[in-house]
Amino acid sequence: MNKVYEKLTKCLKEVRAKTDFEPKIALVLGSGLGGYADEIDVKATVDYNEISGFPVSTVPGHKGRFVFGHVKDVPVVIMQGRVHYYEGYPMSDVVLPIRLMGLLGAKTLFLTNAVGGINPEIPAGDFMLIRDQFMYNVPSPLIGENIEELGTRFPDMSEIYKKNLREKILSAAKSLDIKLLEGVYAQFSGPNFETPSEIKAAGIMGADVVGMSTACEAIAANHMGLNVCGISCIANLAAGISKTPLTHDEVQEMADAAAPRFKALVTESIIRIGSN
Ligand code: HPA
Repeated sequence: MNKVYEKLTKCLKEVRAKTDFEPKIALVLGSGLGGYADEIDVKATVDYNEISGFPVSTVPGHKGRFVFGHVKDVPVVIMQGRVHYYEGYPMSDVVLPIRLMGLLGAKTLFLTNAVGGINPEIPAGDFMLIRDQFMYNVPSPLIGENIEELGTRFPDMSEIYKKNLREKILSAAKSLDIKLLEGVYAQFSGPNFETPSEIKAAGIMGADVVGMSTACEAIAANHMGLNVCGISCIANLAAGISKTPLTHDEVQEMADAAAPRFKALVTESIIRIGSN
């Protein structure tokens, strides 16, 4: 059997030994949103370090566990803490939790993150609905022997972020009076913030925001047939646009400040997505 798939099915068995919860939506919490998982109706939790060989986040502010529960009546599995490629894990491990949530039964993947803003129409503190993405200097998580059990060798990526989900999130934002423009997310490898020249190049290539996670997760999810949607919180202006040097603390502070509105938007979106 494919080694990556073998590890995945082993992790699945271990999680299934702890809970038989069937999620409809899988939610990944980005910086600032970590506390969201503590506010839902929790049915079970599984720490990443309880699962053999599972990648564990090393980033301050990122916890490491799956939380199973309900947002209103919608059954969800939440990743409270994600792993990033820059932490040194192979790409197959970075996307392992995403694939696992798909195998646990989730049909929709809801991604959230904190990003640097490039588009001046989406300033720090605002949110952006991800319409499309590209990766710069980050390998595809699908490189290597294809996992036929999950999807095809050459999957189409022309609508990773599904239009029907985007419409529901836009209507959720409208109902909450939260400004939400759509745009393009560009993933850089990190862990260093980008140079002003890289940000300029990303802008010319069509990026509205830049981050260090999400796009590889969305590719793995799309490969296995999950419906993907995602919202970015603009935590800072990207390098060269910002007047001051970038720090992780600044990113965390702005993400924390935006968290109450972000949480409300995520809840309202999940209710609308889960109600069909
Ligand atoms: N660049 C990359 N990732 C980020 C940034 C940034 O400016 N802000 C938050 N995550």
